[in-house]
Amino acid sequence: MRSTSRVFPATRLRRNRADDFSRRLVREHRLSVDNLIYPVFVLEGEGQREPVPSMPGVERLSIDLLVEQAAELVELGIPAVALFPVVPAEQKNSSGSGAWNSDGLAQRAVRALKKAHPGLGVITDVALDPFTTHGQDGIVDNDGYVLNDVTIEALVNQALSHADAGADIVAPSDMMDGRVAAIRNALESAGYVNTRILAYSAKYASAYYGPFRDAVGSAANLGKGDKGTYQMDPANSDEALQEVSMDLAEGADMVMIKPGMPYLDIVHRVKHELQVPTFVYQVSGEYAMHMAAAENGWLDGDAVMMESLMAMRRAGADAILTYFAVRAARLLKQAHG
Ligand code: PBG
Repeated sequence: MRSTSRVFPATRLRRNRADDFSRRLVREHRLSVDNLIYPVFVLEGEGQREPVPSMPGVERLSIDLLVEQAAELVELGIPAVALFPVVPAEQKNSSGSGAWNSDGLAQRAVRALKKAHPGLGVITDVALDPFTTHGQDGIVDNDGYVLNDVTIEALVNQALSHADAGADIVAPSDMMDGRVAAIRNALESAGYVNTRILAYSAKYASAYYGPFRDAVGSAANLGKGDKGTYQMDPANSDEALQEVSMDLAEGADMVMIKPGMPYLDIVHRVKHELQVPTFVYQVSGEYAMHMAAAENGWLDGDAVMMESLMAMRRAGADAILTYFAVRAARLLKQAHG
């Protein structure tokens, strides 16, 4: 006998999931090459290429090879690169004064990239850590404390030298209070009205930066020192909103949350509470974890890569700085032509 009392689910969410076409129609978020920024490490010399052991697949390149690689980035449609110089030890000192050398590695790399590929956005890192013998992002007192206001003067010089070289976006990653206002004011005074500031607003004192510090050679200098007196406490969330609001009021054009995956709650809060261009940095340690698991055959590398990037988009990130940018862009191109 047929049962008339059987209750059917009124809504079956699985209906829309039944076919690829309907999954595509109801998909809420997209990942596009337009969302990707590729961080690159640049070396002195010519024809130089060095692998970064803790970041399989990532290489430090001399300017000539970087310019060559940039052709592929342009071809793939990646909008921008974030440039990090690997500064030779003999060019470091306690005040990090190499940071604003108009003929420094970063400045030369910017000029070369903009000359060869004018349409590729170039983002520079404004912080002293690659240039200091102690590996801190600023100028320290006798106790090793990073001095805020003295450091800002150095950062302003550094940002101006990047703008002079043709950087499109300067990205202060130092976490000093008031640096965005000082940099904005200096850029305006010098006539750089359209140089954008991408503020590393909510940058946490994270252990996930380890492989990056190997890549730029600041790990050994920093030693057991940490950055907890200026980078944010991983326990805090409201404070991130305060940091972001301050940087916006000081003239930031885009704000960044860093690291990425463990901090997507922060990305979500910033995007949804402030509705501003919100970037996220999938940092070196996140890349290393994915790569290590994939190389061991414990995870499907391409699949987790794309999932992690989509998760950042879902959380609210407009753009993602990721060492996976090229690999992801290639996959996106294969999928969408
Ligand atoms: C330095 C800087 C760091 C990163 C970007 N800029 C390291 C740090 O603060 O020690 C980390 C990026 C990464 O881990 O991929 N100002």
